[in-house]
Amino acid sequence: MKDRYPQHPPIYDIEKTYTFNAQNGPFFSGTIPKRPESKRRIDFLGFSLKSPLGVPAGPLLNSRWVKLACQLGFDLPVYKTIRSFAHPAHALPNMIFVEPDSPKTAHTRMGMPPDAAHLTVTNSFGMPSQSPDFLLKDIAKAHEYLEDGQALIVSIVGTPNQGVSFAEDFVRAALLAKEAGAKLIEANFSCPNVGKSEGCLYISPETVKQFASALVKAIHPIPLIIKVGLFPNETLLEEVLITAAKAGVRAVCGLNSVSMEVVNGEGKSALGPTRPTSGVCGSAIRPQALEWMRKASAINKKNHLNLTLMGCGGIVEPHHFDEFLEAGAKIAMTATGMMWDPYLAMKWHERHK
Ligand SMILES: Cc1cc2nc3c(=O)[nH]c(=O)nc-3n(C[C@H](O)[C@H](O)[C@H](O)COP(=O)(O)O)c2cc1C
Repeated sequence: MKDRYPQHPPIYDIEKTYTFNAQNGPFFSGTIPKRPESKRRIDFLGFSLKSPLGVPAGPLLNSRWVKLACQLGFDLPVYKTIRSFAHPAHALPNMIFVEPDSPKTAHTRMGMPPDAAHLTVTNSFGMPSQSPDFLLKDIAKAHEYLEDGQALIVSIVGTPNQGVSFAEDFVRAALLAKEAGAKLIEANFSCPNVGKSEGCLYISPETVKQFASALVKAIHPIPLIIKVGLFPNETLLEEVLITAAKAGVRAVCGLNSVSMEVVNGEGKSALGPTRPTSGVCGSAIRPQALEWMRKASAINKKNHLNLTLMGCGGIVEPHHFDEFLEAGAKIAMTATGMMWDPYLAMKWHERHK
């Protein structure tokens, strides 16, 4: 398993639409290596996993993508975020290579980054979703691809103005996942908080309490995981983690991609005038994601919250998984990294026989 980056194209074709990728991908022409034997077992919310490695919500567009991730040794794949109804993706471009200039701004990179250390991209999809009919069948199928020591999480999100409250639509999406056979559900709380004038759901302890309590009750006994992004300060992070644990949340996954203003060479919005900002993911956000993990882990211990922490953000080389595990993560996951190097998990398994 030689380094795939930058010689091999990614398993997701960033020049093509989301629909094209969903219908035709993943684009993987390599061999599936034999996984080294290991007696290791990780308990994750009652599921016995062969390793602490996973793929967070996003790159696994449907059951075929989940199948490939399972075959390549990612033991905790996440089925991409679903809504309670079919929803289209943003038009192209969705993913472009960028270089951050400051914590809040980035510019388009000319050509492909020379190495994985500079692999940083936008992730501007608008959370597309297939129809409930498709999802009921396809999520069930995704479960069939799980091998011994693997488990699947289904990520869900609510949408405002669907004839019910925002929280109720979250519950609707979660119940769809449950009906499709989900055994683990992750609620994406890093989406805009329409009840407030700004910010995301996860930075409002009040909203976390309300939405998480409703979800925990609706999906019982399925464990609820919440997905969060960057926090403006540690006090708020502590308040949110305490609130989440009290509401019955069992695990927290961070970070989601970091919102930045992205401009092209002419200083104009790189994703078009309607999308001045985008989530940025990949290598550049690893320092922030690791810092989040260290802080969240200390808070978790200090307050005896018993939350299971899952880390992602910038894992593009095998040893990066270990950095997250050492920082307090029970599970370490890669989205961008695995799209460009789907052998990342197998390389880690080789080193941890
Ligand atoms: C192509 C792509 C699509 C994504 N879609 C979602 C999504 O639907 N829901 C979600 O919670 N996170 C989504 N994410 C964010 C990832 O789960 C992850 O939090 C973020 O990319 C940071 O990890 P990374 O640096 O390994 O990419 C997506 C990321 C990528 C790259």
